[in-house]
Amino acid sequence: MPAIHVDLARTIAPVDPRIYGGFTEHMGRCIYGGIYDDPDNKARPELLDERGFRKDVLEALKELRVPVVRYPGGNFVSAYRWQDGIGPKHLRPRRPELAWLNEESNQFGTDEFIEWCRELGAEPFICLNMGTGTLQDALAWLEYCNSSANTYYANLRRQNGHSEPYGVKYWALGNEMWGPWQIGQMSAEDYAKTAFQWAKALRLLDPSIKLVSCGNNGVTDWDRVVLRTLAPVVDYHSLHRYTGRKGVHDINVMGPPAAEKGIEITKSLIDLALIEHGLSKELTICFDEWNMWDPNGIPGEEGQEQPYDLSDALAVASWLNIFVRNADIVKMANIAQSVNVLSPIITSPSGLYKQTIYHPLKLFATFMHGTSLDVFVSSLASKADDDEEFYTGETDPAFIAHLAKHTPPSKRPSRWIDVSAVLTTDERELRIAVVNKHAERGYRIPLKLSLGSGPRLKREVTIHEVWHEDLSAGNDWETPERVRVRTRREALDQNEEGVLVLEAREHSFVLLVLELE
Ligand code: AHR
Repeated sequence: MPAIHVDLARTIAPVDPRIYGGFTEHMGRCIYGGIYDDPDNKARPELLDERGFRKDVLEALKELRVPVVRYPGGNFVSAYRWQDGIGPKHLRPRRPELAWLNEESNQFGTDEFIEWCRELGAEPFICLNMGTGTLQDALAWLEYCNSSANTYYANLRRQNGHSEPYGVKYWALGNEMWGPWQIGQMSAEDYAKTAFQWAKALRLLDPSIKLVSCGNNGVTDWDRVVLRTLAPVVDYHSLHRYTGRKGVHDINVMGPPAAEKGIEITKSLIDLALIEHGLSKELTICFDEWNMWDPNGIPGEEGQEQPYDLSDALAVASWLNIFVRNADIVKMANIAQSVNVLSPIITSPSGLYKQTIYHPLKLFATFMHGTSLDVFVSSLASKADDDEEFYTGETDPAFIAHLAKHTPPSKRPSRWIDVSAVLTTDERELRIAVVNKHAERGYRIPLKLSLGSGPRLKREVTIHEVWHEDLSAGNDWETPERVRVRTRREALDQNEEGVLVLEAREHSFVLLVLELE
């Protein structure tokens, strides 16, 4: 039987709230029909403000406490002319959109995005076009957003009604430039060489910005080559990964560990690059696209509105556990995407509902802050009992199964019980996020807590739980609350050794709040 060990002295790092970031791309109904609508749309006028921002969507995202939003893509950005999206709306050109084979009206652009972020209370994070875009365009975009000088693009921003610079801090050097689907795909060497020059010039214009290199998933040579060249000039290395297999729960829920491997490898690649350059600087990971994405689901060209079930919610909780556990190196992460496209929120012209994955996301964004603790799940030594603690079947990607076979139990990526823990900044609460990925088996999990000489634990705890008897249960317009959070206060059971025990029922996610006194 697994046990959870938490030692308050074994700290990792503060959890950066930006790991709960979002992403809005000009794709499907994310922007148009998602966060924004034609202000003259009369379907339910009370849902739109005078700028065309969906008030209900803003509310739902505020509940998720989204601290930073990436924009405008994604693949979309690699043919995007940002200049089309500013100035009087009736003069903005309508263009062919090549990433998702659509048409772009440009009614929502940089100024609207910044204003929307301000309304949300989130920081903007802009991804630059390194496909069809030039360095000149990128410099112009940065000048438009951030310059207070008496120069052309800064004055254009003023002319468009925005006297103060926007101070956009985060800028990404291209999106997935390694992908064959990307307009302007490059080799790692070509990308690194070009991005180095871009970084240099962008910093000359605004030395205060933070730059993000375009990474792959962390387990590729692209990441090594790019980091080796760009380490001196960037602040973050981006990673992307999507996992998921609809209807095959075990494979679905065992996908996220691939991301953790990517993070571990990237952490070492960062160390290696910094050592090679003799540098001592902060260079961390920005996991700026992650989520569940069924490869056999609705294609991007059709808007990629994936319905999520409880299995996906458990996988998302596992994704978030990974970011919390790796708080020392993952300083930003952006769920892809925030509305309608692969999203926790689905809208119609007259309302919205929250998909299953909304709930773990909200619980983490609300509670998993403070110092990440080096939580450890102990294992049985006996091979005969392996099945009780580990999944041993097929995985996607396949390398998780391979690692599972060749890794000692304490570090095996295929554990049914997946955990992260934080100590709040005021040191009054210990919060433990526990995913029981097993479809059928419930666990009585001893909580072996080392609290030091100071605090003591109250036996009565708060339990926030996401569970439904049916693993394939999802939310929809008819039953929008089928899968949701249920919260209760209860005194935890104690085992014969006097250790508190958490009952984690089959296929459940539990966020446990323990009070210290
Ligand atoms: O989020 C959907 C797409 O997935 C993004 O546009 C792209 O960057 C990734 O391949």
